[in-house]
Amino acid sequence: MNRKVSVIGSGNVGATAARSIADKELADVVVLDILEGVPQGKGLDMLEACPIEGSDSRVLGTNDYADTAGSDVVVITAGLARKPGMSRDDLLNKNAGIIRSVTAEVVKHSPDCIIVPVTNPLDAMCQVVYRASGFPRERVVGMAGVLDSARMRSFIADALNVSVENTHAFVLGGHGDTMVPLPRFSTVAGIPITQLLDPATVDAICDRTANGGAEIVKLLGTGSAYYAPGSAAVEMVEAILKDKKKILPCAVYLQGEYGVRDLFVGVPVKLGAGGAEQVIEIALEPGEQAALDKSAAAVKELVDVLGL
Ligand code: NAI
Ligand code: 2OP
Repeated sequence: MNRKVSVIGSGNVGATAARSIADKELADVVVLDILEGVPQGKGLDMLEACPIEGSDSRVLGTNDYADTAGSDVVVITAGLARKPGMSRDDLLNKNAGIIRSVTAEVVKHSPDCIIVPVTNPLDAMCQVVYRASGFPRERVVGMAGVLDSARMRSFIADALNVSVENTHAFVLGGHGDTMVPLPRFSTVAGIPITQLLDPATVDAICDRTANGGAEIVKLLGTGSAYYAPGSAAVEMVEAILKDKKKILPCAVYLQGEYGVRDLFVGVPVKLGAGGAEQVIEIALEPGEQAALDKSAAAVKELVDVLGL
């Protein structure tokens, strides 16, 4: 393979994403963790699955950042996962320290990579990566919106008994309870769901989307979601590696777009070889803008705590 993706953190999300990148033969994969033996064991296990999957991706598990050198994309999943009763925000300081040290190593070995942060609280961790890396904003693109909109799409498909392939969902804002699902721009075969579902059902879908992470934390009892998060990160990696120019909701450093400045918040972006190549801006109605402002304010609170 002439492309290389490193996944930092070989836990549930990291391993799920790494496995999928290798299965899809998108790139060679390096999986790194501080735990000794775990990334090596998981990496070897994934490598041994490749003949069955028909993939010539090479997979390597390691504790050494030298092995990540020259990565095209680095997905950061290192950190602590949310436990029952723990909010995303509780994770703030602990994960910020981890992310700072991880970013320094990533940048040292892959100065030209695009970083896809996944660790929570997502938008604040993106800000940590952005500041610690010194990268231009295009090369720090956080994963959350792809997951949140996938959750919304699955709920829409379920409510209307249609293929998920016909669905499109539009979610703006920070990755938290204040995220902003926009029914007006969420469609089935191009038709807004507001024309297909009654208002109560639409509201229920939006609420369930905003609380989608907590729903799974509660069911699992320990840890948080990883299948859909892994798939979401890989959709972004694929768009970057293949220069697809795919419009996806991602956390990017806004500089006035949507009325938000100097803050990572989820908005639609064009994802390609250059990373977040363009922020797609649309006109919001006053209620939608107010909800986005509230969500951005929630992110800003965390960023202020971190002094960023
Ligand atoms: P996990 O606990 O299964 O894996 C985390 C891994 O990070 C562990 O293997 C741990 O040893 C490793 N780690 C800790 N410190 C490290 C360091 N300094 N360097 C390298 N590795 C280190 O957790 P899981 O489920 O994989 O979640 C990872 C993160 O992703 C969490 O913060 C979680 O909240 C977040 N997440 C974010 C989502 C999003 O939409 N942005 C969705 C799902 C999870
Ligand atoms: C999720 O939404 C925990 O942020 C994670 O599943």
